[in-house]
Amino acid sequence: METTSVSKLPFAFFCLALWLGYQLQRVHCTVAYDRKAILINGQRRILFSGSIHYPRSTPDMWEDLIFKAKEGGIDVIETYVFWNIHEPSQGNYNFEGRYDLVRFVKTVQKAGLYAHLRIGPYVCAEWNFGGFPVWLKYVPGISFRTDNEPFKKAMKGFTEKIVGMMKSESLYESQGGPIILSQIENEYGGQSKLFGPAGQKYVNWAAKMAIETGTGVPWVMCKEDDAPDPVINTCNGFYCDYFTPNKPYKPTIWTEAWSGWFTEFGGPIHERPVQDLAFAVGRFIQKGGSFVNYYMYHGGTNFGRTAGGPFITTSYDYDAPLDEYGLIRQPKYGHLKELHKAIKMCERALVSTDPVVTSLGNFQQAHVYSTESGDCAAFLANYDTKSSVRVMFNNMHYNLPPWSISILPDCRNVVFNTAKVGVQTSQMQMLPTNTRMFSWESFDEDISSLDDGSATITTSGLLEQINVTRDSSDYLWYITSVDIGSSESFLHGGKLPTLIVQSTGHAVHVFINGQLSGSAYGTREDRRFRYTGPINLRAGTNKIALLSVAVGLQNVGGHFETWNTGILGPVALRGLDQGKLDLSWQKWTYQVGLKGEAMNLASPNGISSVEWMDSALVLDKNQPLTWHKTYFDTPAGDEPLALDMEGMGKGQIWINGLSIGRYWTAPATGNCNGCSYAGSFRPPKCQVGCGQPTQRWYHVPRSWLKPNHNLLVVFEELGGDPSRISLVKRSVGSVCADVSEYHPNIRNWHIESFGKSEVFHPPKVHLHCSLGQAISSIKFASFGTPLGTCGNYEQGVCHSPASYAILEKKCIGKRRCTVSVSNSNFGHDPCPNVLKRLSVEAVCAPTTSNRRG
Ligand code: GAL
Repeated sequence: METTSVSKLPFAFFCLALWLGYQLQRVHCTVAYDRKAILINGQRRILFSGSIHYPRSTPDMWEDLIFKAKEGGIDVIETYVFWNIHEPSQGNYNFEGRYDLVRFVKTVQKAGLYAHLRIGPYVCAEWNFGGFPVWLKYVPGISFRTDNEPFKKAMKGFTEKIVGMMKSESLYESQGGPIILSQIENEYGGQSKLFGPAGQKYVNWAAKMAIETGTGVPWVMCKEDDAPDPVINTCNGFYCDYFTPNKPYKPTIWTEAWSGWFTEFGGPIHERPVQDLAFAVGRFIQKGGSFVNYYMYHGGTNFGRTAGGPFITTSYDYDAPLDEYGLIRQPKYGHLKELHKAIKMCERALVSTDPVVTSLGNFQQAHVYSTESGDCAAFLANYDTKSSVRVMFNNMHYNLPPWSISILPDCRNVVFNTAKVGVQTSQMQMLPTNTRMFSWESFDEDISSLDDGSATITTSGLLEQINVTRDSSDYLWYITSVDIGSSESFLHGGKLPTLIVQSTGHAVHVFINGQLSGSAYGTREDRRFRYTGPINLRAGTNKIALLSVAVGLQNVGGHFETWNTGILGPVALRGLDQGKLDLSWQKWTYQVGLKGEAMNLASPNGISSVEWMDSALVLDKNQPLTWHKTYFDTPAGDEPLALDMEGMGKGQIWINGLSIGRYWTAPATGNCNGCSYAGSFRPPKCQVGCGQPTQRWYHVPRSWLKPNHNLLVVFEELGGDPSRISLVKRSVGSVCADVSEYHPNIRNWHIESFGKSEVFHPPKVHLHCSLGQAISSIKFASFGTPLGTCGNYEQGVCHSPASYAILEKKCIGKRRCTVSVSNSNFGHDPCPNVLKRLSVEAVCAPTTSNRRG
């Protein structure tokens, strides 16, 4: 067959064709996939992705978060799309401010990163009602997430709305935009099995509906083994190296590599050691995975009443590489950045071929990617949770720490080991600001006139809470009365009667004749609970007012939309002369929400609708159901701000009318007995904060503040002293580093090969404080065999006496400093023939010019 060679074409035409081709490629890029990877413009890519949910931060934080992600080696930003914030009532849309999805995706584009849009529209995500609008539950005949016409119609409508918005802004990669991937549904696999054939029909429908939107980029379904072609099924979990897609021509994608875990009020904080996370990613990549998304890369804050649940905290920090406030969490961020760099060095080999796996010992393996064109990358893994192992690979010795992978982008030199953390650890601190709260004023949520007939419903029996409130408020009053005859024995020295309230969730405060008598709570695992307590009744009519509180609607579980909330009974009195009195079926009056909510007390406009009292004059600081207000000026500087709520109980916070979220200072119960990075991670493994309030600090975004006179309103359910509330700023308190000296017999990354000769670089400790800070003192320094971890280092048997002097000389007064870990740097060898380390903790303090802040 005759082919036209390029050389035969006129030169100008050739140039024009090239130029056109280039333009076409630039504007109409393609995203495809094969068994190895996602292909962007025909090129297989290893991609690192990070979840940043746009409504969990403020638009003025987005750029900084996304650029920090880029700097951390992230290629793709993933976000869910949260239906309930965008369509708060049917047909009324909101894409403003924190909900400005287009602006968020364009910020990703501006940073030169790709986007993965997980439309859901079911998202789970510890988000109120899993992302579904509550009105959806009341669409006649609806049944969620199954082969149900009303549901499918609504889901299709929202999906098409979002895809349409993205298309009209040319945000798909196929249009020259950043979106390379989209998700439909979320972890449907388990549900599908429960729903049987209807579930299967729904999955097929969802896939077809998604494909028909014509985005020009691939769709994924996570945790759905039956995802129909061409949808790619993907893995979520702490580890995903066991995972294989359902067809040999689909790439291996990890949509949720859990970087930590969420918290619930009353529970401890879960941390995931970065050594284990890096190990998990290493395992996934070595076996052929090509796309990893960290869930979360920045967790952020569940502002307002967006937290799901029940009982998900307002903080959604997640122990992510960027903390709730958007600050870099070290060593997590830095160690992952190094990991990404090391893996990217192997990219060509990884995407070109399949690994050859060999055994290096009982629990050790080598995965080698070697191509015909001469690329070679190796991953040496040690799955042993206890022991370091010296292995032989390609005729060389390598030392593999427990539960770790070494990465050799040239099959020779180790550039990274998942268990060896070279980057510094930062200890964050909450520092007082010089901000004074102006005087506090209080307003009592007067409950004496609760059933005065205004805005109430009266009926026989107990009503389900969300049916009544439609989630317009967390609060629903259940009010009834009971008549007590004067001859009742408890009135004459007998035992007080007991009130029993059976609730389906989530919390209840019991008021008898206007006085708080007690409270009870469910948990996230079992939202149902029973209140049992003695109550003080008097002869005559007694008013029983039960304030039922929803603490975030269920976001996960089979048909969770049908789960009940509120007091469904029985409600009964025990210990009366007649025995038990069941109150469940008598007349109950309901009031949705608080009076203060109806009067808009939290907003600058509603604030003057009531008479406030100077809090200094309120004698009982523990008065429940009280609104508190004050004003404050914004502190200078740009450190993130938070409210310290330790002196308060449970309630909600607003600043300048914007809702910060729910607070609750209930102490965390659980087991906080230390943690080893080695061995399979599960959330209960590495917990901290037991005995402390689960969440003491509440993020106050700087962009919500004006320079002066910011209105702070707090609604307290239980009682607390508002004068103890203070504004604090978050910054790096100290930085630590812990680096081993070079081991002459083991090949590691301190040796670089230049042709045949090798150059030795001693390992170094790098310390750096934040912008506007400098190292003010060395809290700890030891070159030798120091013990402990950042914050509680101790000298070991071997210690170089020069340790402090060397560190002080190199670091004090500087923002960053570097110190070599070698005998020569410390004068002499403090203990010959012992492998030494340098551990340092340096204190970061504001530089003088910044101190005013
Ligand atoms: C996953 C789910 C996410 C999130 C996560 C836990 O199963 O897909 O949306 O809920 O669990 O944080």
